[in-house]
Amino acid sequence: MPFPIVRPRRLRANETIRRLVRETSLSVDDLIYPVFVTHGRGVKKAVEAMPGVYNFSVDTLLEELAAVDELGIPGIILFGIPRQKDERASEAYDDQGIVQQAIRAVKEKFPAMLVITDVCLCEYTSHGHCGIVENGCILNDPTLELLAHTALSHARAGADMVAPSDMMDGRVGAIRRELDRAGYQDVSIMAYAAKYASAYYGPFREAAGSAPQFGDRRSYQMDPPNAREALREIILDIQEGADIIMVKPALAYLDIVRQVRDRFDHPVAVYNVSGEYAMVKAAAARGWIDERRVVLETLTGMKRAGADIILTYHAIDVARWLQEGA
Ligand code: PBG
Ligand code: ZN
Repeated sequence: MPFPIVRPRRLRANETIRRLVRETSLSVDDLIYPVFVTHGRGVKKAVEAMPGVYNFSVDTLLEELAAVDELGIPGIILFGIPRQKDERASEAYDDQGIVQQAIRAVKEKFPAMLVITDVCLCEYTSHGHCGIVENGCILNDPTLELLAHTALSHARAGADMVAPSDMMDGRVGAIRRELDRAGYQDVSIMAYAAKYASAYYGPFREAAGSAPQFGDRRSYQMDPPNAREALREIILDIQEGADIIMVKPALAYLDIVRQVRDRFDHPVAVYNVSGEYAMVKAAAARGWIDERRVVLETLTGMKRAGADIILTYHAIDVARWLQEGA
């Protein structure tokens, strides 16, 4: 018998056959676009370490979102840059806060666009931590109350979904209870369930002005070497009422994504974070990589690992490339 009999290359011979046997697809339906909103009018301030990402005021944000709407990207996740920061993150749960204003404006102009809000305190606290600080410690239970108020305030402004990213114990349950008590049973929760203490958040902290003023986030975000612990975190968030579970960052944690996909039946989101974006942008700007091919390959890898939903700053570019038949 002539060797080899089995020839996998037969199914790679041309694009038509490759399309037929392709196992994973990336679609505009998978994408969530993160945006940063700030006070003022006519603001479009570039974030240096994230080319193509800006701090928008509400009016310029609406202009930017016209592209999101036209391309059919299902939704956005909103991050706010407050006017003032204080110890108790007051603007986070202020009904006139910047995120609350943005939610109302976006839902008015684009009623079908899914508006998700990041629920955390670090953009709003003077010390830059994700919770209440006392004697250098980040307190868990007193923080839950403020997170729940924040989520409720977002729901009152019209948010479709809230996404707690603080990693305090019990926050999903606290938020679910507060939302239900106030009649917002239909507002869903996407939990940053397995969120690691990662160096990949660096550029985001420039974008949101949220770098901790002392210490780091390792007493609440997860330790990168741990995988089994991620599954325990996810079980807790599911028990507390999370509708969607997230793994963050994406690229260095695809093994976690695979395990989560295999073990649970909830939709799984990944956050293709700021540092992952910045690395691609920096190399592409130097002509060292083909941005479009690298981004599509990377996001396809996240889908292949088991992600259903990808939060990514590349969302608009990706949606355009897919439309062009990438
Ligand atoms: C707030 C928050 C962060 C990110 C999302 N929500 C920063 C952090 O935890 O320090 C990171 C997103 C990114 O890097 O793109 N807690
Ligand atoms: Zn935070």
